[in-house]
Amino acid sequence: MSEIFLDAPNLGDLEKRYLCEAIDSGYVSTVGPFIPQFEQRFAEWMGSPWAVATQSGTASLHMALYQLGIGPGDEVIVPALTFVASINPILYVGATPVLADIDLMTWNIDPKKMEQVITPKTKAVIPVHLFGNPCAMKEILEIAQRHKLFVIEDATESLGASFDGRMTGTLGDLGCFSFNGNKIMTTGGGGMILGKDKDSISHIRFLVNQGRDESRGYFHPEMGFNYRMTNLEAALGLAQMDRLKEFLQKKKRYHEIYQDELSGFKNIIFQREVPKAQSTWWLNSVLIPDHKDLASVQNQLKEQGIPTRRFFMPVTEFPMFSENGRSGFPNTYQVFEKGLCLPSSTLNQEEDVVNIARQLIKILDRRN
Ligand SMILES: Cc1ncc(COP(=O)(O)O)c(C=O)c1O
Repeated sequence: MSEIFLDAPNLGDLEKRYLCEAIDSGYVSTVGPFIPQFEQRFAEWMGSPWAVATQSGTASLHMALYQLGIGPGDEVIVPALTFVASINPILYVGATPVLADIDLMTWNIDPKKMEQVITPKTKAVIPVHLFGNPCAMKEILEIAQRHKLFVIEDATESLGASFDGRMTGTLGDLGCFSFNGNKIMTTGGGGMILGKDKDSISHIRFLVNQGRDESRGYFHPEMGFNYRMTNLEAALGLAQMDRLKEFLQKKKRYHEIYQDELSGFKNIIFQREVPKAQSTWWLNSVLIPDHKDLASVQNQLKEQGIPTRRFFMPVTEFPMFSENGRSGFPNTYQVFEKGLCLPSSTLNQEEDVVNIARQLIKILDRRN
């Protein structure tokens, strides 16, 4: 087996070429031609009218909440199983995160649980398309419409996934992406916000640039943020966009291989899509429900040179959210306790993915 990577980025000559071009031009910071080019290309690819490049997925979520006027006294609903970066931005704007349990099939927010926690203070929901799998957007959008809530999609892990023929990140009011090193494509560190409303996106563009009205020089009519993407990052982004199709095909192929090799085993459960959804399989992951010691499975795989990762810890485990307790989130805990993320980097060879799956079966069999 060649070296196996969990979620390492796939960078090569094209990325070097674009980066050198940016360096040679002298535009390495937050001004430069690659930034608008990247925004336009990304928006077109996603089928969205507008896009603003940002410094990170977290910054994108922060700006989305801020732009929608969410602040102290407001509640925002999020799933209890997600990366903490889905939730920290709610705290940045002074609002209150309200947690909802997940669905056992999709591992995403359960729309029924989401509806149960709506109060008169609820202003928005943040569905997170975990590991690239689209949430039950039909139900979520219907509930949001009925209760007049904003929908901010955390599409940081789901670039290329779709629901009912539309890309995740274009279904809600605003969609947020991350180009962190382990994502489908990377800019080193960066993000994007998509939106349908021109004025809203123009205002976000102004906010991320220190709230500067450039037509009047260094004039700042309101408080802003330094959340712009750099030209160096956008150079990487453009190179990665050239290769996006290849990355998405690989992710899909790895999923097919894992399915072919592992789906016959009743002790291995895959994340499942809702009808009309197409996951991007960013991070192929499984539940191993009757295994008591996932750490030992991980160690044995590691001995074979196979890196794995546990799921995100339920956010109720962290001091700042612990008052929520764990009893209201049985599905979150069940999935967390049994879940294992498998190597999904597009650097991996298909035959290695077959091997990884077979090694996993061997380890699970050995135990029985
Ligand atoms: C679900 C989720 N939300 C938000 C983020 C934040 O993105 P970034 O690291 O670009 O700030 C990430 C990734 O890191 C993520 O996985």
